Amino acid sequence: MLILGFESSCDETGVALVETSADGPPRLLAEGLHSQVAMHAAYGGVVPELASRDHIRRVLPLARAVMTQAGRTLAEVDVVAYTRGPGLAGALLVGSALATALGAALDRPTLGVHHLEGHLLSPFLSADPPEFPFVALLVSGGHTQLMRVDGVGRYALLGETIDDAAGEAFDKSAKLLGLGYPGGPALARLAESGDARAFSLPRPLLHSGTLDFSFAGLKTAVRTQALKLGDRPAEQALADLAAATQAAIVEVLVKKSLAALVATGLHRLVVAGGVGANRCLRQQLDAACARRGARVHYPELALCTDNGAMIALAAAMRLQAGLDLGSHELHFDVQPRWPLVEPAVSGAKAMASVS
Ligand code: KG4
Ligand code: ZN
Repeated sequence: MLILGFESSCDETGVALVETSADGPPRLLAEGLHSQVAMHAAYGGVVPELASRDHIRRVLPLARAVMTQAGRTLAEVDVVAYTRGPGLAGALLVGSALATALGAALDRPTLGVHHLEGHLLSPFLSADPPEFPFVALLVSGGHTQLMRVDGVGRYALLGETIDDAAGEAFDKSAKLLGLGYPGGPALARLAESGDARAFSLPRPLLHSGTLDFSFAGLKTAVRTQALKLGDRPAEQALADLAAATQAAIVEVLVKKSLAALVATGLHRLVVAGGVGANRCLRQQLDAACARRGARVHYPELALCTDNGAMIALAAAMRLQAGLDLGSHELHFDVQPRWPLVEPAVSGAKAMASVS
């Protein structure tokens, strides 16, 4: 079965073609990605209206390029998948409208995918795919969650951020250090030449006894330290503060992930979402999990941030698991706010909290 997937929830336009087979994992045949980072950089962050317009400009040429690259025709596509949410409403509507129109024109079902499910399942496209069950650390620009994953569609929330997401902490701290947008990768780069011990920053909720996170206080502490550095901070001081910020975020993510493995008794961790590209996080998670005899799985580096492949893949895995058939209805609805795990299930949080 051939699944064509569209991602347009935020500032990347992604299109990908995935093929399922009866006797193996889904395969990525071709993908195309256009990042809007350069366009939004001038504004210091994502401008939703500009994002929507750019998705409109990019999505069809990308789709054509993907079909050509795969050597397939649209007539061969069995299901058209798209990101239904969460994300920016106008941006989501571009992928949703196109997928619904294509589905109608080709007389094929469409399938709206949860963006976080895409991130969560993206390591299944890697050379070293995980096996169920596992603990997932989802760290993106808008979400920070720990989940127990028992299979496709079988997710239980173990903990999540009560305020800012880890990616947001990277981005907002980077802004305070004058690093512009997108802040996470820039802060990580600067941190490489810094000494994390030069500043003492808080590790919020580290000893809370739960698997929840909080990063808003860290941002305030970074602001206080950045102000102390004055108008013309020395390059080394900035690098040290960047390193200290990264170390604080990474330590909390690593300790809580390990606590989640202990609480669930599982020995497999999957890391997904943009912050999963962070080298320091990967090194420390690898080391901590090795000490516990646990394995860590990451998506391929290029699939950590938003992309169309993870959306086509999530659709493929939902179809294979019999969780979805797709829809022939001519409605395109998006869910700008959409929890992956419904609140009733998140009651599992209390059960899984560490003592
Ligand atoms: O998953 P993603 O591409 O988009 C969302 O769904 O939010 O994640 C984007 C986030 C941004 O906050 C970005 O700064 C962060 O991931 N990020 C990083 C790195 N690469 C991307 N943060 C730290 N280090 C990185 N290398
Ligand atoms: Zn994302």
